[in-house]
Amino acid sequence: MSRLLGSLSLLALVGCVPAVVTQTPLPPEQPVSFANDIQPILAARCLSCHLPPDPSAGLDLSPEVAYANIFQVPSRLHPGVLIVNPGHPDASRLVLEVAGTPFINDLDLEVLRRWIAKGARAD
Ligand code: HEC
Repeated sequence: MSRLLGSLSLLALVGCVPAVVTQTPLPPEQPVSFANDIQPILAARCLSCHLPPDPSAGLDLSPEVAYANIFQVPSRLHPGVLIVNPGHPDASRLVLEVAGTPFINDLDLEVLRRWIAKGARAD
């Protein structure tokens, strides 16, 4: 039984390797843009729940309103915390809420973090 479990976890491990290998890390100084980098992540990974008429947590991430709904907007669920706190990814619910969940992968999380760290500009 334990041998079977061992091979299963090995299989799981091997199965994970290609995903890790194909995820090229973000080049250190590559600029991150809301329109080109953040918006597509929100649309692909978040919009399925955060959309009208009844967005999860009341947070609508539709392209037309996403920026206005996150930039320096107070969290409804965690009073005193902002959804996007410019310069402070670790004090932003946009990061804290999804870090370590299946909703996002490490690379996209790093893109979100970097965008916020650099001031979360609208362009
Ligand atoms: C499967 C549905 C689903 C997906 C996909 C999803 N969310 Fe959520 N999200 C929720 C739910 C439900 C809540 C409310 C959680 C709670 O009550 O604690 C929530 C809460 C949040 C909050 C907290 C809002 C607040 O006012 O504090 C943020 C920020 C958030 N989500 C961002 C995201 C981002 C960014 C993504 C994509 C990377 C995402 N979510 C993907 C369902 C989802």
